Amino acid sequence: MRSRPFFAATPNGSSDSGAERVYDNPPFAELLSFTDKSVVVTGAANGIGAACARRFAEQGASVVLVDREADAVTEVAASLPSAIAVPVDLTESDAPATIVTAALDAFGRIDVLVNGAGIFPHHSTLEMSGAEWDAVIGLNLRATFTVSQACAREMLEQGGAIVNIASASAAQPRPDMAAYAASKGGVVSLTRSLALDLGPTIRVNAVAPGPITDTKGARTSLPVDESEVEAALAAYGSAIPLKRTGRADEVARLIVFLASPAASYITAEVVSIDGGRSLG
Ligand SMILES: NC(=O)c1ccc[n+]([C@@H]2O[C@H](COP(=O)([O-])OP(=O)(O)OC[C@H]3O[C@@H](n4cnc5c(N)ncnc54)[C@H](O)[C@@H]3O)[C@@H](O)[C@H]2O)c1
Repeated sequence: MRSRPFFAATPNGSSDSGAERVYDNPPFAELLSFTDKSVVVTGAANGIGAACARRFAEQGASVVLVDREADAVTEVAASLPSAIAVPVDLTESDAPATIVTAALDAFGRIDVLVNGAGIFPHHSTLEMSGAEWDAVIGLNLRATFTVSQACAREMLEQGGAIVNIASASAAQPRPDMAAYAASKGGVVSLTRSLALDLGPTIRVNAVAPGPITDTKGARTSLPVDESEVEAALAAYGSAIPLKRTGRADEVARLIVFLASPAASYITAEVVSIDGGRSLG
């Protein structure tokens, strides 16, 4: 029978000290601590993934940073106290095994996975090629599954948490982003299936950010010229109840919470972080 450890949704009644800690109402700071934990973050060279890596490190985690941008991910890893870079393309079939092997070699365990890598290109629905569709689905949805599967096999004994990055676009698509919206809708469904199949040992949740505009991907994917980016962001922000777009670190803080024992009774959930944009 599986144990139900530190990260799990329910107490196990066994001698596992982690689960008991959650039910003993420990200090909140202790519930947000990742000391002695190993966290894998994909898409960690930039944006939300890099912000996650920094926040998990601040909370005491050893971090495995995965990205296809080798120089950039190595630089972020080098800035953290206990971290390694794994420069791989997540759409390659051997990427999941490479990540797990690197994590176990470096830190001996995997406690948390954040599936942060994603692409969000604009394609006219009438012009989009099959290859363009496959590229978006292959990274945003398929790799989210394959990396989760590989890491979950290692987490199962001790327990853990997976946080996927979906998008507000799953429910409110933007023009010319059909593949992206479909991929993120898939991530929402996948999150629920993984929570069902991997519980009670592994909690699985997703975040659904609205526009997070201090990231490279968001700025370069806007369908406007470089000179018009700031004006486009200002216009975008003014239509949001909080009157601004979001920042990568704001998403990272939510992800750290969902991955932590502070969120011990949350699984299969998709949490919006959009400044209220979903009001319409
Ligand atoms: N920025 C936003 O407004 C926003 C909103 C909703 C959801 N999201 C999601 O958040 C996640 C991160 O977005 P971001 O804005 O930080 O983007 P970003 O472009 O700044 O970062 C994404 C990272 O993924 C990496 N990556 C891309 N393809 C890869 C591949 N094949 N293999 C390995 N790494 C790869 C990139 O190199 C990059 O470092 C994405 O899943 C995105 O869809 C972003």
